[in-house]
Amino acid sequence: MKRSLILKIVSVVFIILIGVSFVFDGKIYPLYNDSKDSDDYVLRLAHNQSTTHPVGVTLDDMAKEITEEDNNLEMVVYPNGQFGSEENTIEQVQMGAIDMTKVSAAALESFIPEYKVFSLPYVFTSAEQYQNAMNNSELVQEIYNSSEDQGFIALTWFEAGQRSIYCTEDEALESPEDLAGKKVRSQSSQTSIDTINAMGASATPMSFSEVYTGLQQGTIDCAENNETALTENSHGEVAKGYTYTEHQYVPDVLIISTKTIDKLTDEQFQSIKDIALEETELHEERWTTAVNEAIEKSENLEKPVSFYRIDKTPFIEATQEMRDEFAAESDFNAQLIEDFDSYEVDDTTSEVNE
Ligand code: GCU
Repeated sequence: MKRSLILKIVSVVFIILIGVSFVFDGKIYPLYNDSKDSDDYVLRLAHNQSTTHPVGVTLDDMAKEITEEDNNLEMVVYPNGQFGSEENTIEQVQMGAIDMTKVSAAALESFIPEYKVFSLPYVFTSAEQYQNAMNNSELVQEIYNSSEDQGFIALTWFEAGQRSIYCTEDEALESPEDLAGKKVRSQSSQTSIDTINAMGASATPMSFSEVYTGLQQGTIDCAENNETALTENSHGEVAKGYTYTEHQYVPDVLIISTKTIDKLTDEQFQSIKDIALEETELHEERWTTAVNEAIEKSENLEKPVSFYRIDKTPFIEATQEMRDEFAAESDFNAQLIEDFDSYEVDDTTSEVNE
């Protein structure tokens, strides 16, 4: 082949490579997306809630703030589980295929065992204790950073309330005996499965997006989540009795790929982190409003959902062994339990706040 022809081919390939971009959801993404070499970096964040869910609202607001703050950054949010299950999106963050995701701490457990503590039953016994620990514990920060060699770190958390059991049958669940023989959907983490089984039910792990159909078709009798699942995910159309077992407070966690961090300047990374932390604070109020609205809406459905407050002692006792075993596993685990206990508020304060 003549030298000039080879040169021509090489130049054409080069021009094509520079121009290569792909179109996704109406947006154009350059394949070479490095803010240090080019002007713009598009940060892509995926999550599994809708845009009206309080977490969806918070993530959209965060994206707006980040885009406005830095001329060279644009953040695009992909809601409604478009990129698959939470486990799938974590893997995509690890590979750098997407930059960030918001997932339940439970989904992180199979990647980083330390996340197990957040799904441990009754490790938090009040909203105040949970919020104080999430906002102030240095050990939580250690967990956030412990995943660096797995290709991501956590930036912050978002309130996701308490998790309680709700069933298609309208009845209060007062003890493990009431759950005997009931198939209860759990998150896929081993700790979530063990929790539901220890509470007396038969745990049926499945993806969040399958829960509505599971309840409707009777593959499961019950599910467990905070109150917004009744309205935002329409579970209140098919489940009729919501019992405040409050067995877990599992935070939502915002993670970012280390491949993305490498592409950002230190200032850009710091600014993203600061905005995310501000959103954690703003999210609290959005969350409280959304939970109150979800309860009101569910109570006023044509076939209303009943809410039952119970004495949680039988469930706390039934799951004690799980907390003991966790603490005995390692010094770090024992420290975590001790640390979380130190954020406990006394009963009187908790009642006054309710
Ligand atoms: C909560 C959480 C979601 C999670 C879901 C679940 O709604 O915010 O991130 O997917 O629980 O039960 O799977």
